Amino acid sequence: MKEAIDKERIPKHIAVIMDGNGRWAQGKGAKRVFGHRNAITAVRETITGANDLGVAYLTLYTFSTENWSRPKLEVKAIMELLVKTLTDQVPNLMKDNVKLTLIGDMGMLPPRSRAKLSEAIEETSRNTGLTLILALSYSGRWEITNTVKDIAKKVADNEIDVEEITEDMITSHLLTKDYPDPELLIRTSGELRISNFLLWQLAYTELYFTEVLWPDFRKEHLLEAVADYQRRERRFGKTGAQIKS
Ligand code: IPE
Ligand code: IPE
Ligand code: MG
Repeated sequence: MKEAIDKERIPKHIAVIMDGNGRWAQGKGAKRVFGHRNAITAVRETITGANDLGVAYLTLYTFSTENWSRPKLEVKAIMELLVKTLTDQVPNLMKDNVKLTLIGDMGMLPPRSRAKLSEAIEETSRNTGLTLILALSYSGRWEITNTVKDIAKKVADNEIDVEEITEDMITSHLLTKDYPDPELLIRTSGELRISNFLLWQLAYTELYFTEVLWPDFRKEHLLEAVADYQRRERRFGKTGAQIKS
């Protein structure tokens, strides 16, 4: 599979909706939490796989704003797992030269999770390889709503004029302002929807859906997704002939 990939056309930014943990566990007659616990290998393989390919940014949808509405025990288990995984994985991130960052509503997280996240971010902040962006307590509409508020405040304070509001300006107020839009979005588990992920940023992203449940996702699946992406023609509204010339 690796031979099928054109090194010159690796997406700079890949975003992943890591879905299907609960169904994976239930398929084995286990509780949903068992699926979350078994998702770590998939995360590891995706990070090292992306890093090896030379991908610059990897955004992982880890927990959505709407996921707070899940049963209390599941939410608690996910938050604990997050703290434990981050603590365990920082040495690996250091070894792989991965820089960790976050997008989302950090105020919603339990203080212990927030503290561990801050530590991991600080520790990896000088790494120069892949930037790993965890979307945590994140949703696209939440992000856009905050952005509208920020810009409206600037208008109200006479810092900017309404006429100065452009697409680029909005982009530069998003949490993702330092990252290019993803060229490729992968969603596992066979669900064909975006579930309130990077709504603004996915405008022209190539979407790739696979039936594989997240805990089973491996490097080879990532390579398949990238190979599929490379077979597509991205037209951005133009005609195929325009793109070829
Ligand atoms: C993705 O797996 C993980 C999170 C959303 C936190 P799910 O927990 O959504 O698993 P399914 O979709 O119910 O199988
Ligand atoms: C999306 O998965 C969120 C994450 C993977 C973190 P969900 O399982 O929450 O999405 P829906 O509810 O099936 O759309
Ligand atoms: Mg799900």
